[in-house]
Amino acid sequence: MNTFLATVQSALRSGCAKRENTEQKQRIGASFTRRQESVPGLLAEQELAAGQLPFLKFDHVRAGYGLGDVLNELSFELSAGKILGVVGPNGSGKTTMLNVLAGTLRPDAGQVYMAGLDITRLSVEERARLGIGRTFQIPRPFPKMTVYENVLTARVFAAGLPEREAEGSVLDLLKITGLFEKRNCLARSLPLLDRKRLEIARASAGNPKLLLLDEVAAGLTGLEVRQLIDLIFHLKSESITVVWIEHVLDVMSYAVDLLMCMADGRNVVYGKPGEVLHSSIVEELYLGRRMEEDHAQA
Ligand SMILES: Nc1ncnc2c1ncn2[C@@H]1O[C@H](COP(=O)(O)OP(=O)(O)OP(=O)(O)O)[C@@H](O)[C@H]1O
Ligand SMILES: [Mg+2]
Repeated sequence: MNTFLATVQSALRSGCAKRENTEQKQRIGASFTRRQESVPGLLAEQELAAGQLPFLKFDHVRAGYGLGDVLNELSFELSAGKILGVVGPNGSGKTTMLNVLAGTLRPDAGQVYMAGLDITRLSVEERARLGIGRTFQIPRPFPKMTVYENVLTARVFAAGLPEREAEGSVLDLLKITGLFEKRNCLARSLPLLDRKRLEIARASAGNPKLLLLDEVAAGLTGLEVRQLIDLIFHLKSESITVVWIEHVLDVMSYAVDLLMCMADGRNVVYGKPGEVLHSSIVEELYLGRRMEEDHAQA
């Protein structure tokens, strides 16, 4: 067995992909293989296309880490093919909302629906197979693998493809994400922009229908942010729905279709970016925070 295959198998064994062959998983997996270009479980694709059914729905979701609720009756809806930006002060529950969506955190109450399917109790693996791909606030590549191996691993895991079948599409994805020239570099040697690109490439490796981005622009220069937005727009043109957390408010003002501001685990303002960013609540939350920081530095 070659080293790469052994590494992949060990990574899959070590918890990122515990395979429990329940009846439901087999059903979802089989359905995914048959209909990779459409989301399995969708019973209402026409309603989705017509915007009558939300692609994503949080319905009074409560969730936390054992010390009280972080998400506090969070509710919102998003239509297919849109980019939803999510802003809010540190600790307001943005990443926790993404954890609930990706399946790493089970809600204590409420429901999450994707394309009409109740995904509240599905595992991370099942959601990956349904077409949910995510980036992490702190990039999580396998540092000792090359760029190519990292994306191939993600593709094998998320799309459930044999390694050989995955290879061609991985090279295509590396071209789209601007990483082709660096495909043989170790992930740990990449500069920040390329680490962010790799994070997006890994999240996109399973042909996601829903792409979850957690502060991918953080720490980048203005020019680098532009390059990243171009990439996200390119992915979005392939009719992917995106939920994108970002603190850089001016990015949110032109890069997203809709914007939600969270505070204390709730959706406090939701609407068009210009309206949300100029709402008194958002100004108070962000200006208030800046004034506190100015005081702390003085
Ligand atoms: N794994 C965890 N275990 C316990 N508490 C956590 C965990 N992750 C987050 N929290 C707590 O949950 C609350 C919300 O955190 P979360 O990471 O969702 O906020 P955020 O809005 O993403 O913040 P930031 O803008 O700083 O990334 C915080 O009080 C945080 O300390
Ligand atoms: Mg966060």
